Amino acid sequence: SEDKGKISIGFSQSISEDDTWRKSMDNTMRVEASLHPEVDLTIYNANNSTKNQISDIEKMINNHLDVIIVAPYGSDSIVPVLEKANQKGIPVIIVDRKVNTSNFTAFLGADNVEVGRIAGKYIVSMSKARGNILEIKATTDISPGVERSLGFKQIINQYPNIRKTSITAENLASLNDKFSNVLDSLPNLEYVFAFNDIIALQAWEVAKQKGKEKSIKFIGIDGLNGPDGGIQAVKEGKLKATILYPTGGSEAIRLAIKIANKQAIPKNNKLATVLIDSLNADIMSNQFDKITEQQTNIETQLNVIDSQEKKYITLYNLMKLLGFF
Ligand code: FRU
Repeated sequence: SEDKGKISIGFSQSISEDDTWRKSMDNTMRVEASLHPEVDLTIYNANNSTKNQISDIEKMINNHLDVIIVAPYGSDSIVPVLEKANQKGIPVIIVDRKVNTSNFTAFLGADNVEVGRIAGKYIVSMSKARGNILEIKATTDISPGVERSLGFKQIINQYPNIRKTSITAENLASLNDKFSNVLDSLPNLEYVFAFNDIIALQAWEVAKQKGKEKSIKFIGIDGLNGPDGGIQAVKEGKLKATILYPTGGSEAIRLAIKIANKQAIPKNNKLATVLIDSLNADIMSNQFDKITEQQTNIETQLNVIDSQEKKYITLYNLMKLLGFF
C-alpha cells in the first residue's frame, strides 16, 4: 500500500452476520487486527451472494491492498477474480471453504473429512456399532458439506448394523418438514448427525414438538462459545456433542501479517478440531472465555498506551511552542 509501515488487509466475508459463526469470524479478525496497530483491516460482507463477493474482491484489487482474505461462498465462479488478484501480485488467503484453483497464497481451515470421521467414530462407540442414524446434510455444493459427509460415511459404512438414512437441509424451513417426516417413519431413530449446530438444534426443536427429543442423540458441528452456541447447547443437554470447527479469524490475520512481512508460510494451514461433549464442555467454554478476557485486557492496555502517547505529544508540542527546546 501507499502508506509505508501500514499493512492493509481486506477480508471478503461471504455470509451475513445473522449467522453467528460468520459473526464470530469477523469479530475475531477485528480483535486480532486491533492488537496490531500497524494493521488496517477492512471487512466486506457479500450477504450470501457470489456476485457481491466477486465485486468486493474486485474493489480490493483496485485499491491495491497488501493482502486479501476470502471466505468463499461457492467454489467455482470466484476462480477468475482470484486469478486476477494473483496476476496483480496480491497475496490471497482462502479460509473455510475450498476453491477450484490453486492460484492463491494459502489456505486456512480445519479438515472437514476429519470432522466427519470424528462424528462417525463417536456414534460408533456410543451405539456399540448398531442402530438407526440420520445424517442431515448441507446443500450438496459446498466443500465442507461434501467433505464432512465423506468422512462420516468412511467410518459408518464399516459397520453393517448401523442403518443410515440421510436428508438434505437446503434451508431451515425445508428441514422442518423433512425431519418431521423422518421422525414419523423411523420410530427407532437414535442418532442425528447434522452439518452444523444450527441445523442440529433446529432438528432438536422439531423432535421436541413431538416429544421425541430425549430418545435421540443430536450431534452437530461448529462448537461456538457463548449463549447461542453449540457448547452451551451441549451443557443444556440439547446436543449430545458438537465438533469444534474454528473460524480461524485471528489466525487469518496473523497469517496475513506474516505474508505482508515477506515471511515464509505453508500453503496449507490446518486448524485443530476436537469433540466437545458433557465431559469437556465446561473446560472448553472456560478456555474460550479466558482467551476473550486476555484479548480485552491487551486491547485496553493498547488504548491506554495510545492515549498516553497522544498526551505526551501534546505536551511536547506545547513545550516546543513555549520555547523550552
Ligand atoms: C456458517 C457455516 C458453519 C459451517 C461453515 C462451513 O456459515 O455454515 O456452520 O461450519 O459455514 O462453511
